[in-house]
Amino acid sequence: MRILRALLSNAAIGKHVDFYSRFSPSPLSMKQFLDFGSENACERTSFVFLRQELPVRLANIMKEINLLPDNLLRTPSVRLVQSWYMQSFEEILEFKDKNADDETVTSDFTDTVIKIRNRHNDVVPTMAQGVVEYKEAYGTDPITSQNMQYFLDRFYMSRISIRMLLNQHTLLFGGKVRMNPAHPKQIGSIDPHCQVTDVVKDAYENARNLCDRYYMNSPELILEAFNVKESNKPVAVVYVPSHLYHMVFELFKNAMRATMELYGDAMEYPPIQVQVALGSEDLTVKVSDRGGGVPLRKIDRLFTYTYSTAPLPQMDTARAAPLAGYGYGLPISRLYARYFQGDLKLYSLEGYGTDAVIYIRALSSESIERLPVYNKSAWKHYRTIHEADDWCVPSKEPKDMTTFRSF
Ligand SMILES: Nc1ncnc2c1ncn2[C@@H]1O[C@H](COP(=O)(O)OP(=O)(O)OP(=O)(O)O)[C@@H](O)[C@H]1O
Ligand SMILES: [Mg+2]
Repeated sequence: MRILRALLSNAAIGKHVDFYSRFSPSPLSMKQFLDFGSENACERTSFVFLRQELPVRLANIMKEINLLPDNLLRTPSVRLVQSWYMQSFEEILEFKDKNADDETVTSDFTDTVIKIRNRHNDVVPTMAQGVVEYKEAYGTDPITSQNMQYFLDRFYMSRISIRMLLNQHTLLFGGKVRMNPAHPKQIGSIDPHCQVTDVVKDAYENARNLCDRYYMNSPELILEAFNVKESNKPVAVVYVPSHLYHMVFELFKNAMRATMELYGDAMEYPPIQVQVALGSEDLTVKVSDRGGGVPLRKIDRLFTYTYSTAPLPQMDTARAAPLAGYGYGLPISRLYARYFQGDLKLYSLEGYGTDAVIYIRALSSESIERLPVYNKSAWKHYRTIHEADDWCVPSKEPKDMTTFRSF
């Protein structure tokens, strides 16, 4: 009886998922986030927006999860992730017809938002675990890997965006006071004057602590900042400091590891150089190391999930976070950069070192969420049989040009 009821309710939820997945998510600009938070932030408006937008974003990505290979969907980890999405979707839906002017409703909603945020804390490692289990059991071919990469980029991006909405709502309306006590000048998680060099220094110090612990030493930092428009002012931008921190911290860990591995016990290491530049369009952060670099052939691979040259860390040990290990550092950092229309790129001089460059939009009106949408083209991505490449494959043995005749 209970199973039947569960099946029926799953079918009912399925209908709602279909319904909401037909809407496209509505991307917000940094400016909109900011205006909303600063001008007499209204819990009611946020509630009315989120009770529609959250189911839309959830449903769009839930439809895409369903397109994964059956064997991947059957892994316990992916099932668990799916059940979290279903439950959260259902919980938000309960507010669909509730009275937005009733304060107990809006306050219950805020509690639900907090509950959802906590439920989804471990989505990234759980999904990653599912992919590992699948790969171990069934192996992979290039097409599946490509689809998986396409999916994970979109899935994790969707998660970043949903968490941004959940965080803004709880930070603005979750506590007794509107202000974030740890960061009084922030609007939720956004800092209208994010001091870029402060974030860089903070990330460097923390990465350096990890590096010292593993290698007993660490490279120094040389930091330069250029504010092209107002040369006497520090480099500041409207941004989410925790996102910027995440990116530079990952880049520092990589740069330090490469440097320490290359120089071994040298006792003296080339410093990591960071240049920060604020122009009229871009804020650019370049992290340069002299850790020996990576050949061009391998650069794209570094952004694939599950690619790492570090030994896999033990999941169950309560030790400090490792300096490297899961291979998620670069791909997830690139998603953070792209989330507000920026990017993250690696340029390497093999044999010498690597420049990792973060691009962020300097203008808050241009920093608009970049969101995946479930539509025909997305669907096609998973379904099309990839045809032969449209570039020649060089043969192993080059033609003997001495016997080659032109007609
Ligand atoms: N600056 C660099 N110089 C040389 N190799 C690098 C550099 N940055 C990244 N790599 C290579 O790219 C791989 C992937 O990096 P990524 O940060 O995504 O994962 P990771 O560092 O192995 O693990 P983690 O998920 O803990 O970051 C690294 O294992 C390393 O081989
Ligand atoms: Mg890393």
